[in-house]
Amino acid sequence: MTARPFHLGWFLQGSSVQAWGEPWTGNIGREWMYPSLFIDMAQALERACFDYILVEDSSYVGEAYGGSREIYLKHGLSVPRQDPAIVSTLLFAATKHIGVATTLATFTHHPYLLARMMATLDQVSGGRAAWNMVTGSSDMAARNYGLDGLPEHDLRYDMADEYMACANALWDSWEPGALVADRESGVLVDHTKVRSVDFKGQWYSSRGPLNSGPCIQGRPVIAQAGGSARGRQFAATHGETIVANPKGIEAMKAYRNDIRARAAAMGRNPDDIKVLFLVNPIIGESAQHAEERRLQRLANADAKIAQRLAHFSKVTNIDFASFDLDKPIEEGLRTNGHQQNLDTLKKMGAGGKTLRQAFTDYSGTGLSVDLCGTVETIAARMDEVMQEVGGDGFLFSMGDVSRRVVAEVADGLIPALQARGLTRTGYTHATLRENLREF
Ligand SMILES: Cc1cc2nc3c(=O)[nH]c(=O)nc-3n(C[C@H](O)[C@H](O)[C@H](O)COP(=O)(O)O)c2cc1C
Repeated sequence: MTARPFHLGWFLQGSSVQAWGEPWTGNIGREWMYPSLFIDMAQALERACFDYILVEDSSYVGEAYGGSREIYLKHGLSVPRQDPAIVSTLLFAATKHIGVATTLATFTHHPYLLARMMATLDQVSGGRAAWNMVTGSSDMAARNYGLDGLPEHDLRYDMADEYMACANALWDSWEPGALVADRESGVLVDHTKVRSVDFKGQWYSSRGPLNSGPCIQGRPVIAQAGGSARGRQFAATHGETIVANPKGIEAMKAYRNDIRARAAAMGRNPDDIKVLFLVNPIIGESAQHAEERRLQRLANADAKIAQRLAHFSKVTNIDFASFDLDKPIEEGLRTNGHQQNLDTLKKMGAGGKTLRQAFTDYSGTGLSVDLCGTVETIAARMDEVMQEVGGDGFLFSMGDVSRRVVAEVADGLIPALQARGLTRTGYTHATLRENLREF
C-alpha cells in the first residue's frame, strides 16, 4: 500500500427523477416514482464498500432562471423530488453496511422533529445514519414553510449553531444505559436516565426528552458542506464528514487544512473530521476512449448550458437568464444562497472571460480535480491527489445517476482502487461513525 486508505462517498442529486430523457436511464414515464434505481445504486455502492451515500435535497420548485418554473419542470431539474428521509429509509432497508446521509434543512424541521426523525433513521439502520445539515439557500423554499424568506447568510449559521445545541440536547436526553430491557425486573427503560432538556434559545426551544429513544450511535453522524468562512467555521464545529468542492490540489489542501486548524482550535481532534472532495471521473476503455467521452461531456454541457445555469440560478437565486452568455460576468454579483459556488464561478471568470467560458470552466469536465482515463490511470491519479492533499477521501458526484454510471464506478473504478489498497474491501464496523474513524 502506498498510502493510508481513503474514504468514499456518493452524492445522489436528490431523491428525484434522474437524468430525464438521457440514454441509459430507463426513464420512461413514471418509474422515477419507485425506488428501484436508488436501491440498485445503494446495493452496488455497498458492494464497492462506500462509506456513505449523501442524499441531497431542496424543497421547492425552481423558478430563479428567467423568473419561470418552465425550464425546471420541462427538463425535470430537481423536480419532481421526493422526501429524502423516506427514500433514505428504503435505502437502509435494502442494505446492511453502507451509511446514508439524509439532507434536512434547519428551516424545514423543528429541532425536535428532526432529532426524532434522525434517531429513528439511526435505529432502523443499526447506526448508519448521518444528517447532512443544511441551512437552505432560497427564499422560495422558505415561503413554502410560511416564512417571508431566509435569514441573512451568516445569521443562518448563528441560528444553526443554536439548532445543533438543541438537537444535541435532545439526543442526549437518553443517557447511556437508559435502555434496560430486563425481563426479570420488568423494566424496559430506567426513567432516572431519561430527562427533559428544557432548551430555551433565542430561536429554538424544546422541552424533551425525545420520545423516540436514543440513537444507536448516540447522535447521528453530522455531514456538512459549509464553504464560506462562516460556513467553514460551522462545519469545523459540528461536522464529522465535510463535503467540499474546491478547485485544484492547492485549494483542496488549503480547505482541508483550514477545517482541521479551526477544529483543533476548538479542542476537537481533526482526525474525527473526514473531508471528502467532489469528483466526477470520466472512465474509458482506453485513454483515447476516455478523451472521446470527455469531449462528448463538454459538448453535452455546452448544449445544455441553459439547464445547467438554471440549476446554478436555483442555488444562488440569481437570474442567469438575464445575462448575455457572451459577455463577461457582471462584477457586483452577490448571493444570499450558496456563496462558495458563486465565488468559484467569479474566479473562473477573472480576466474578462465570458459567462459561457467561465461556466464551462466551472462545471466543464472535472470538479475538485480532473480525472479522465482508464480505471488504472484514474486510480493512480486519485492516489497521488490524496497523498498531496493529505486525506480524507472523495465524494462521487456523477450528476444524475443511471445504472450504467453506477456500475462504471462501483464495478470498474473501485476494484482498481481496492487492488492498490486505497479503499476498503470490507466493512470493519457496524456503525457509520466507527467506519469513518477507522482510518
Ligand atoms: C457536496 C455538497 C452537497 C450539498 N448538498 C446540499 C443540499 O442537499 N441541500 C442544500 O440546501 N445545500 C447543499 N449544499 C450547499 C451547502 O449546504 C452550502 O450552502 C454550500 O456549500 C455553500 O456554503 P456557504 O453557504 O458556507 O457558502 C451542498 C454543498 C456541497 C458542496
